[in-house]
Amino acid sequence: MTQAIRIEDAAAHVGQQVEIRGWLYNKRSSGSIHFLQIRDGSGIMQSVLAKQEVSQSAFGLAENLTQESSVIVRGVVREDKRAPGGVELSVTDLTVVQIAAPYPITPKEHGVEFLMDHRHLWLRSRRQHAVMRVRAEVIRACTEFLDRKGFVRMDTPILTPAAVEGTTTLFETPYFDLGAAYLTQSGQLYNEATAMAFGRVYCFGPAFRAEKSKTRRHLTEFWMLEPEAAYMTLDEYMALAEEMIVAVVGQVLQHRMSELTALERDIPKLKAVQPPFPRLSYDEALERLKKADKPVPWGDDFGADEETLISSQFDRPLFVHHYPAKCKAFYMQPDDERRDVVLSADLLAPEGYGEIIGGGQRIDDLALLEQRLREHNLPANVYQWYLDLRRYGSVPHSGFGLGIERTVAWICGIEHVREAIPFPRLLNRLYP
Ligand code: 4AD
Ligand code: MG
Repeated sequence: MTQAIRIEDAAAHVGQQVEIRGWLYNKRSSGSIHFLQIRDGSGIMQSVLAKQEVSQSAFGLAENLTQESSVIVRGVVREDKRAPGGVELSVTDLTVVQIAAPYPITPKEHGVEFLMDHRHLWLRSRRQHAVMRVRAEVIRACTEFLDRKGFVRMDTPILTPAAVEGTTTLFETPYFDLGAAYLTQSGQLYNEATAMAFGRVYCFGPAFRAEKSKTRRHLTEFWMLEPEAAYMTLDEYMALAEEMIVAVVGQVLQHRMSELTALERDIPKLKAVQPPFPRLSYDEALERLKKADKPVPWGDDFGADEETLISSQFDRPLFVHHYPAKCKAFYMQPDDERRDVVLSADLLAPEGYGEIIGGGQRIDDLALLEQRLREHNLPANVYQWYLDLRRYGSVPHSGFGLGIERTVAWICGIEHVREAIPFPRLLNRLYP
């Protein structure tokens, strides 16, 4: 009886006869031996076919295998210190499921646009595979962390009647007799309702922004993890976000080291992600920019250049808090002592990756929130349910949103967020 196994478990089967179901990743031949790199989704394993140990037909089949042909190989797992994963397969038998047509992605270099056009195939490549594994680990680490802390997952709607983060990046779609619907920019407003019902909640799902910018940090569809808690203050939010990021990076280092190694990630830089994270006020950040000869007028938001400059002065993520009210969203709670700044904080990742978390304390006073809606030209009628939260047992509360792709890009050390999601949606890309 031959047991079918996955390559990631192969080391536990040394000496056993096993079956591996996968695809041909790469091939080398030397007359009487074929070295097949077989991948099965969980890893890549060298499978060795020696002419005198397999049937003539099996040896002939291996001869004609093209890249990405689907194959089932059977053989004995052997320890081999030089092989990746420490084991290889001595093949005794091979079945071809399909001979693949000439594969467009070859071991030679391809341009990114070509690879993005073939994203559905590119995901099979070693680096992309590693990034997606890290992504899955980041998501698992985030949700496990919040579950441990007693946060209840609440899935918030994607089709919504109103804006969260300004009206300029709204995606609009016709909605039957009710006029227009908008693809959600953030689950936050609904999270505030569920936080008043459950105390601590989070949502995790896609968010949409009609970003007209082509940068390495912007997608039009990205995934966001958003915790929200009743009675949570700005300081408590920063402590929670810090603890979460430390836990996430720690879990990736623990479980995804081979992927990080495949990505040639600078591991000591990730190990430096330890508490406490520096906390700078917006005003202090402005001082630093001035000292670095890159002054910004008070009240302006930071762009990528400013964020990179500030974060390059530290070896770990840092918070910038107390931003001017005018560069933040309508729901931000003003500081009691200084009404022109709000109780907000962004977390900037090191190494130039910029803002990965945005959040803060929300306005809990009904009259002030109504005033802000007017100042931002937002139609009060579609926010009545949101205003109700300030009518019936309003409390101070805070929350934040972590962008998954920016976090994954930073942890993997990759250049652009488009490689941090299986099928990126960009200003100029909707295919595949
Ligand atoms: O700072 P943002 O816009 O905050 C919110 O949406 C809040 N409502 C979240 C909350 O408090 N519950 O977005 C939060 C994070 C950013 O820090 C960034 O990581 C990511 O979402 N993000 C994007 N990622 C990729 N492409 C985009 N266009 C993004 N816009 C925001
Ligand atoms: Mg932000």
